[in-house]
Amino acid sequence: MPAIDPSHIPANLRPVMEAMCATGAQLSRVIARGPLAGKLGAGVGENSDGDQQKALDVMADEMFEAALKGTGVKYYASEEQESVLTLDGDGTYALATDPLDGSSNIDVNVTIGTIFSVFAATGDAESSFLRPASEQICAGYIAYGPQTLLAVTFGAGTQLYVLDPDSGAFVLAEEKMALPVAAKEFSINSSNRRHWTGPVLAYVEENEAGKDGAKGKDMNFRWVGSLVAETHRILTRGGTFLYPSDGRPKYENGRLRMVYEVAPMAFLVEQAGGKATDGVRPILSLTAGELHERRPFVFGSAEEVDRIADLHG
Ligand code: AHG
Ligand code: MN
Ligand code: MN
Ligand code: MN
Repeated sequence: MPAIDPSHIPANLRPVMEAMCATGAQLSRVIARGPLAGKLGAGVGENSDGDQQKALDVMADEMFEAALKGTGVKYYASEEQESVLTLDGDGTYALATDPLDGSSNIDVNVTIGTIFSVFAATGDAESSFLRPASEQICAGYIAYGPQTLLAVTFGAGTQLYVLDPDSGAFVLAEEKMALPVAAKEFSINSSNRRHWTGPVLAYVEENEAGKDGAKGKDMNFRWVGSLVAETHRILTRGGTFLYPSDGRPKYENGRLRMVYEVAPMAFLVEQAGGKATDGVRPILSLTAGELHERRPFVFGSAEEVDRIADLHG
């Protein structure tokens, strides 16, 4: 039994998607067992970006790397690996992944995820990923929450699949996700308020003023701490997300990594009718300069993302 219904997947990407989904389903069983599966949230080291690595970060990375062998993936890049690995010399794809997103939520039974992005493997190992984000041929995330689900795009809309725990397969639930144009919610880590730039502060203050201010409507606030969970909520019912540059050391480009967090989410959001920028410029027009580089990230409902760009103008 295949791990995903292949009917909407381009034929040449089916082996890659089958490996991602089989591994996602396996990982969801580990995550569901929580402490019964071991100390998944225990610190085990540090990655090249300076993040503490949890046991589950490393386990997920090893599982995806092993599963993608023989699927046509030539180059494999991961948050948890300093440099690009060559999996299959004859492969034609370059796949980048955040194998486990939201690792601060591992121990608290809150949604975590896996993010991935696929390019054609045209350059050498690293340069295959340092291309305009618009050249992605596939992007997706798996969310491990009350449901395990997959949102994926191959450039013809964003599809939603849900893992059926009885059959162990991802089943198509929505052929074309549509991100609402208007928003009622916004998401930003407010503990960084004192480090924000003027336009970001202005946007948040406008939201906080609600219907008593220039915005003329109330906005609610949400922050999960897992990009996958925020993206799924926003894709489903609209809203905005900001992880902007701020004044803390090392945060001049925000917190999120371009190749395996920002670019794939931007592709998914735009394919669902939303917008994704670095505050001003569309993410899909940008090219990463380095594998682990960070980018300021703003995405969500088109009206709000446009408003944020105006405030920068
Ligand atoms: P990761 O666990 O893959 O390192 O990603 C964490 C990211 C993202 O999921 C989330 O949006 C953000 O970091 C949370 O940032 P704060 O620590 O500022 O809440
Ligand atoms: Mn991390
Ligand atoms: Mn992440
Ligand atoms: Mn991660």
